[in-house]
Amino acid sequence: MVAEALQEAVRQLQPVAERPRLEVEILLAHHLGCERSRLLLRDREPLEKAEEFFAMIERRCAHEPIEYITGTVSFYGEEFFIAPGALIPRPETEILVEEAAVLIREQRGIERIAEIGVGSGAISVTLAKLFPRLQIVATDIRPEALAVARENLRRFGVEGRITLKETSLLEGVDPSRVEMIVSNPPYVAQGCVLEPNVARYEPHMALFAPGDGTELLRRIVDLAARLGVPTVCEMGYDQRKPMEAYFREKGIENYRFYRDLAGLDRGFIVDFG
Ligand SMILES: C[S@@+](CC[C@H](N)C(=O)[O-])C[C@H]1O[C@@H](n2cnc3c(N)ncnc32)[C@H](O)[C@@H]1O
Repeated sequence: MVAEALQEAVRQLQPVAERPRLEVEILLAHHLGCERSRLLLRDREPLEKAEEFFAMIERRCAHEPIEYITGTVSFYGEEFFIAPGALIPRPETEILVEEAAVLIREQRGIERIAEIGVGSGAISVTLAKLFPRLQIVATDIRPEALAVARENLRRFGVEGRITLKETSLLEGVDPSRVEMIVSNPPYVAQGCVLEPNVARYEPHMALFAPGDGTELLRRIVDLAARLGVPTVCEMGYDQRKPMEAYFREKGIENYRFYRDLAGLDRGFIVDFG
């Protein structure tokens, strides 16, 4: 029965998950193809394909992120497709979207932007939905990530306004298409120990950057300075000091940092206008 399977799965997941009941309900609802709120009504039904459901629980017990198991992730109020080739978009990245949206609104006339490191496409798709006239060129060095982004572009019907390009940074991108840059690049310092669900399953090239983790952030700032375009970047909570030092070294004065909901430094905006 559904109720018994739920109980047994919660027992199995207890040592691994912080909120085992919630996770089991999400997986069970996914398995049954119904809303989580409908589970109670199906309590007494026999559980069809129980082995497939418990195979999902086993994957979760091995620390695989629930989003890769269900193939979906919530971002900015929408359900995106996700697969192991792409980093799972994080809630704090919604703040980057907000900051980018403010810039686009303030700097009236911005209609062409670039995203570096598109991953699942969550940022570009969300911005494209918020600004119907926006044209975006979005790059990534990993074809696996671009495949996930392509699927999201299709699902949200924005293929005509987002061009995906397999390249590093903005190499080969026509500068006239770039009036602003947004990026959530890899910024975790090499050697940093991450939770097993992240370290074992998420693509390392989406997470780690050499040295103290700011290398790509610096290269993006250089690029933004060269193109003379405003730029919004996410960064690590401990990278404000090195980035401030870099701005000083480069004589860049027009910048500010933003924080996440926990009050931690989480990103910056530089403007060259
Ligand atoms: C932290 S993930 C961000 C993914 C997505 N934008 C998000 O916010 O969920 C960083 C992405 O940058 C890509 N990447 C790493 N180095 C890159 C480079 N030099 N040029 C373009 N993309 C790069 C990775 O493959 C990965 O998809």
